[in-house]
Amino acid sequence: MEDLILKIKSNEKVGTDIYHMVFEGDLSSLDDIGEFVNIEIPGYYLRRPISVMEYSKNTIEILYKVLGHGTNDLSKFKAGETLKVLVGLGKPFTLSKAKKPLLVAGGIGVAPMFRTIREYNEKGIRPLMVYGARSKDDIVLLDELKKGADVYVATDDGSLGFHGNVVSALKELKLDYDYYFACGPQIMLKFLSMYDQNGEVSLEARMGCGFGACMGCSIETTNGPKRVCKEGPVFDASEVKF
Ligand SMILES: Cc1cc2nc3c(=O)[nH]c(=O)nc-3n(C[C@H](O)[C@H](O)[C@H](O)COP(=O)(O)OP(=O)(O)OC[C@H]3O[C@@H](n4cnc5c(N)ncnc54)[C@H](O)[C@@H]3O)c2cc1C
Ligand code: FES
Repeated sequence: MEDLILKIKSNEKVGTDIYHMVFEGDLSSLDDIGEFVNIEIPGYYLRRPISVMEYSKNTIEILYKVLGHGTNDLSKFKAGETLKVLVGLGKPFTLSKAKKPLLVAGGIGVAPMFRTIREYNEKGIRPLMVYGARSKDDIVLLDELKKGADVYVATDDGSLGFHGNVVSALKELKLDYDYYFACGPQIMLKFLSMYDQNGEVSLEARMGCGFGACMGCSIETTNGPKRVCKEGPVFDASEVKF
């Protein structure tokens, strides 16, 4: 874990209220990129946790949705400005658990799937993916995803792809996978784990410190309380008490 001052290389709108930000800086001292970063937005006491969408030796990319004041302020930052970013937090998906992976994304939960697809592609594996959202306007960077994965889209209003949520799409599609990795709204993850427990889910929680010190992000699991920021945010679907 490192607290770094990173320069913003770009911060572009890629969908309705959705932005793609690229940070650049020297990440060579970092052992592990982790699953998420915690960004200090000037004027806010608490940092905002955001998944690592993609990374390289000197860049970190994030994809974020403007939800409240913090993310709205983040969307106003321009290339060349800097932000303080706590990097190397949380455990990512355990890719070795799947030979035939299925990625399940809901809304902005698509963010960590970009790096996941690239990491599988580097092992010679092309994952399956089901990507759900409320409407076609909430589906972003689909062509990019399709370069590395076989992607099925589901929208609640039927404006693109399968008409319905990702779990009903999964029931209908009967895809050939052996393990899944999911990120999205809690309700989606709950219904997904009721349908199939053989996977990992990336959870969200309101966070204080972001690195295991405050217990503010604890959740109940079958193995006792666990911290989303430290033991997670990725958990076995079978251990989470939704
Ligand atoms: C591990 C982790 C990874 C995340 N990855 C991403 C990502 O890649 N892209 C992205 O857009 N967002 C991501 N989030 C959610 C993101 O942290 C929140 O959207 C953000 O903090 C909201 O800040 P705000 O100041 O705009 O909203 P606030 O003004 O703080 O809140 C606005 C509304 O959002 C709700 N909210 C705020 N934070 C959270 C949260 N953590 N979980 C659930 N509801 C929340 C509040 O209850 C309120 O209703 C992630 C969260 C976690 C814990
Ligand atoms: S946010 Fe402090 S322990 Fe997780």
